[in-house]
Amino acid sequence: MNKLALRTEGLHKTYQRGRIKTQALRGVSLAIPRGTFCCIVGPSGHGKSTLMHMLGALDRPTAGQVFIEDQDIGSLSSSALAALRARRIGFVFQFFNLLPNLTALENVTAAMMFSNREKAQRAGRARELLDLVGLSDKYKARPNELSGGQQQRVAIARALANEPDILLMDEPTGNLDSEAEAEVMANIEQLHQQGKTIVIVTHSAEIAARAQQVIRVKDGVLVKE
Ligand SMILES: Nc1ncnc2c1ncn2[C@@H]1O[C@H](COP(=O)(O)OP(=O)(O)OP(=O)(O)O)[C@@H](O)[C@H]1O
Ligand SMILES: [Mg+2]
Repeated sequence: MNKLALRTEGLHKTYQRGRIKTQALRGVSLAIPRGTFCCIVGPSGHGKSTLMHMLGALDRPTAGQVFIEDQDIGSLSSSALAALRARRIGFVFQFFNLLPNLTALENVTAAMMFSNREKAQRAGRARELLDLVGLSDKYKARPNELSGGQQQRVAIARALANEPDILLMDEPTGNLDSEAEAEVMANIEQLHQQGKTIVIVTHSAEIAARAQQVIRVKDGVLVKE
């Protein structure tokens, strides 16, 4: 059970906009064992989201390596990478990113667009996931008819649609009041208990205090606790 969910070696990411270069990551090496509840913390603008994007293969590093479940993703083609991402990783973002014209049920079902699951079974699976996050009575609600916490729980249901082992969440409670944050965190802890690897970027000291592993990013490098 010592296998790693995620690992990086000497990760660098430099963004270039015109003549301006930003070194967002400057040599990050880390290892997150499977089933870990991990938090990424650090000041604003210091590279947390960038690191999350690299871990989830949403973007490629300038230098260094990322391993997802022991696979070096640098060697994969874009389509192989997209397939790996769809199968293995669920994302939750700070601003929910739900499709506004779709109902909660349709938002979750849409995530299964490229899955192997039979079309006829997808809505049933979406209902199960919404039940799991406590939204059995909101299948037909559109995002603007839901509270922030409810929208974020739809986003979590959507992230789970393809049964990922790894959940990457960028400030999943950043826009929620404390009650909604507690609801969302209860869902997240339940998923951790089911064995998922959870990586959360957070500014909340309370959430970080519950983590098994805390990764502190400062100025694009990791600092010891
Ligand atoms: N697409 C991009 N193009 C150019 N620069 C970028 C891009 N994304 C991020 N940056 C820069 O890289 C640095 C790290 O940004 P990042 O988003 O990783 O910070 P963060 O730690 O997530 O901050 P916050 O807590 O505010 O979300 C910042 O200086 C930012 O301006
Ligand atoms: Mg960020």
